[in-house]
Formats: sequence, C-alpha cells, structure tokens
Amino acid sequence: MNAAAIFDLTGKAALVTGAAAGLGREMATALVENGADVLCLDRDADALKATCTALSGVGPRVIAFAGDVTDPAVVQSAVDRALAEFGRLDIAVANAGISDRTAKLFHEADEADWTRVIDVNLSGLAALNRAALRPMMAQGSGKIINVASMWGIAGPAGLFARPAYAASKGAVVNLTRELGLEYAPHGIQVNALCPGFFRTETRPRDAAHAKIMEDYTPMGRIADASEIKGSVLYLASSASDFVTGTTLVIDGGVLAR
Ligand code: NAI
Repeated sequence: MNAAAIFDLTGKAALVTGAAAGLGREMATALVENGADVLCLDRDADALKATCTALSGVGPRVIAFAGDVTDPAVVQSAVDRALAEFGRLDIAVANAGISDRTAKLFHEADEADWTRVIDVNLSGLAALNRAALRPMMAQGSGKIINVASMWGIAGPAGLFARPAYAASKGAVVNLTRELGLEYAPHGIQVNALCPGFFRTETRPRDAAHAKIMEDYTPMGRIADASEIKGSVLYLASSASDFVTGTTLVIDGGVLAR
C-alpha cells in the first residue's frame, strides 16, 4: 500500500467513548480528520454536543450519543446506533476514564471510590469491547483501542497514590493482551494506548501539580492533548495491521527509566 494511504480511514466507522473532552475529543477528531465516520459517546451531554458541533463538517458523519459507559445496555445501544447509521463498526476506542478522588493510602481510601473507578475504567471498557466484538466477528475485521495509562504498567505511588486507578489500568493492559490473543485468528486486533502526562481541561489541576509532572518526565514537559492523535491513527489504521495484544506507550520517556 502507498505510504500516504496507510493512515487513510475513508469508509471506516468508529466509536469513541469519553469523546466530549480531553484525549477522547482529540482521538475522535483525528479519526474524523482522516476520513472515518465517528459516533462519539460521553456522559456529559452539553460538552458532547459542543464537540460534535465543532466536528461536523470536518469529515464525514459525526454522531453524538449521550450516555454512561457503566451501563452495558447504554454501551450496546451506542454500538447498535453506530451499526444502524454506518452499517459497520471498524474501530472502537474505549477511552472514558476517571481517577481516584484523593491521593489516599490504600488502607485509608474510600471503598466507594474503588468501585466507582473500576466500574468506569475496567467494567465500562469491557462492556465496549464485548459489544464491539460481536459485529466485528460478523465482519471478520476490527480494531479495538483500549486507553490504559503508563500507570497500568508501573505504580504511580512515587508521585501520587492512586490505587484504584493503577489497578484498573493494569487490568486494562492485561485484558488487552488476552483479547488480542483470543481474537487474533478472527481478524480483530486489540491494543492498548498507555499515555503519560497529557494536558487537558482538567489536568494538571494546578501549577504545582504541573511542575511535579514535568520534573518526573525525562522530556521535561507535559504533552499537549493533540499529541495523542498520531498514536490513535496508528492503531486505528492499516499502519498497525500486524499489531495486536500490545501496548503503545506515549510518555515522554517515563517508563524507560
Ligand atoms: P478527561 O476527564 O479530560 O475526559 C474524560 C471524558 O470521559 C469526559 O468527557 C467525561 O465526561 C467522560 N467520561 C467519564 N466517565 C464517563 C462515563 N462513565 N461514561 C461516559 N463518559 C465518561 O480525561 P482525559 O485526561 O482525556 O483521559 C482520557 C483517558 O485517558 C482516560 O481513560 C484516562 O485514564 C487516560 N489517561 C489520561 C492521561 C492524561 O494525562 N490526561 C494519562 C494517562 C491516561
């Protein structure tokens, strides 16, 4: 294939969760800009509307689907809607994620916080994987991109205690390996993105927090949210046709230590 065509997503249909803001919005934008139809799911209906309005006209079809990934029926409805509108589902990006509310040591942390984080980051992500795999099996093709974190590979406690977040992201990394293996014979690829520190509307929360992140990162800076675009295009396109069950780390060198 011609190198320029490798990243072209014309004719492909995608679904991105947590697409209203932050990295999800950048990933949805990248997919739309490279020609894919995209259904954007988010629980923040107002932000979702603003994002989808901004994206309309950039590429082919962009659909806003307001809902919460912790409800498997909602996730199934979103996949059904994508299939009804686009006729297929080629790319599913499980991005919606949250973190522990406070940096407490594990024995002091609120149990409800554990459940909240696991429900979104692991069970919500698993719901999308399951719902997307059904049409992908029928098609005999598909690419699933699970958004984990560098804290799915190493523990964050040296900087901030985030036990539920670390547990959920570690589980995402290994679920991705498992599903990559299970579905490799079926033409479906499952890979994980492991971002380091990226700047979004909500992160870093203040200048002191930003300084900690910059100092911890060998490249000495926090990434701009738009710097996630290249990695999602790689995993969503033919560029990664022989890649499955793996993790793509985008962390300015943190995990190389
Ligand atoms: P963000 O907080 O800026 O955006 C997350 C989006 O997901 C929001 O629009 C929110 O409404 C939506 N969302 C949250 N829970 C949801 C639910 N239950 N159902 C539907 N939508 C939901 O977050 P950010 O920073 O863009 O993170 C995106 C993903 O990237 C997360 O999985 C996060 O853990 C991961 N990540 C982010 C890093 C960063 O530095 N920003 C670093 C490593 C990983």
